[in-house]
Amino acid sequence: MLRGRRVLLCVTGGVAAYKSAYLARRLVEAGAMVRVEMTESALEFVGPQTFAAITGEAPFTGLFDAALVSPHTELARWADLVVVAPATAATLGRIANGISDDLVTATVLATTVPVLLAPAMHTEMWEHPATVRNLETLREFGYHLVGPEEGPLAGGDIGLGRVAEPEEIMAAVAGILGGEGQGRRILITAGGTREPVDPVRFLGNRSSGKMGHAIADAAVARGYDVTLVTTADLPVHPAAKVIRVETAEEMFGAVEGIDPEIAIMAAAVADFRPADAAESKIPRADGLSSIQLASTPDILASVVGRVDRPFTVGFAAETGGLDRAREKAGTKGVDLMVYNDVTEPGSGFGTDTNRVAFIDREGEVEELPLLAKREVAERILDRVSAGVGGRG
Ligand code: CTP
Repeated sequence: MLRGRRVLLCVTGGVAAYKSAYLARRLVEAGAMVRVEMTESALEFVGPQTFAAITGEAPFTGLFDAALVSPHTELARWADLVVVAPATAATLGRIANGISDDLVTATVLATTVPVLLAPAMHTEMWEHPATVRNLETLREFGYHLVGPEEGPLAGGDIGLGRVAEPEEIMAAVAGILGGEGQGRRILITAGGTREPVDPVRFLGNRSSGKMGHAIADAAVARGYDVTLVTTADLPVHPAAKVIRVETAEEMFGAVEGIDPEIAIMAAAVADFRPADAAESKIPRADGLSSIQLASTPDILASVVGRVDRPFTVGFAAETGGLDRAREKAGTKGVDLMVYNDVTEPGSGFGTDTNRVAFIDREGEVEELPLLAKREVAERILDRVSAGVGGRG
């Protein structure tokens, strides 16, 4: 259910911390990759060794943990979901007020992925106006909440404040990570193809593959079943299926074998390849006055031409302006075209940012500001989600 999804479990100091050991086990059983953070007070209730044995990795216990250079930011970026269970009144209060004086609160502040909070405290603390106000703020911030429940509390009294049961937290996790993708099959192509001249040389282009890989990561986080066909040697989310290729012909072959509901064609595919690649390195002395070229298959056209065609997104990396991209969107017959002017600084090949415009089937244009490629990926998936919904 959670195969390959990365869950950061943050344990804060309450008796209910012992239940988080079982939660960690349930997450691991469901296929998630689990890392654990513990506050100093959490360590008073459960030993780190318990979590280490369950997850296979020692928990992170402080902002200056020796295992990572910057634990809060590295773990914040690593995660697909942050779960704080149990979340004490003190931790909730610090998060609501932006106080980041321990590893857990700093991580929550540093992350951009969904956060699920499972409060646990005594009824009086839960009902205190400070907690009520903090909870309102946390809801406004968009954090997810699960529990608390009514039942026996640590002091022997009975009331609202028990941490949600692990199964209930698991259901909340599945609800968040299941996301809009709901296991829908999405194909993403990425990177520039390399067309061999001989075993050493190739004709290539400047595409780095960063944009396509960012889309793959974002799609996994939204619960899609992702297949990435890429030429780039870049990291990608472990839950994505990756097919590494080099040439346009190989990319075409890989794509032919995939039947997606959504196709995002971010690769820069060579239109031509050397007609007869030499089998051994061409010596300088032989000279080479010209290279005979042959056409490569148009992968996008073959996808758009399928009987049961997927919702298809094309890319137009241009030097010739928006009008050319709009024309291309029409002739290619894509559902959405992503245009970018590769001559613009901070945009296009190799950068971590991109300024793009969307062109839909009606030729309507939406221009976006300069954004991080991951953010561009999110916007593309927003449009895909709206478009797929619109197609019924
Ligand atoms: N594309 C593809 N297969 C090809 C060429 C392009 O799948 N052989 C896809 C790209 O991944 C991109 C879109 O088609 O999503 C547009 O690519 P582009 O190179 O701009 O299109 P071309 O038809 O090659 O246009 P141009 O005349 O500008 O070269």
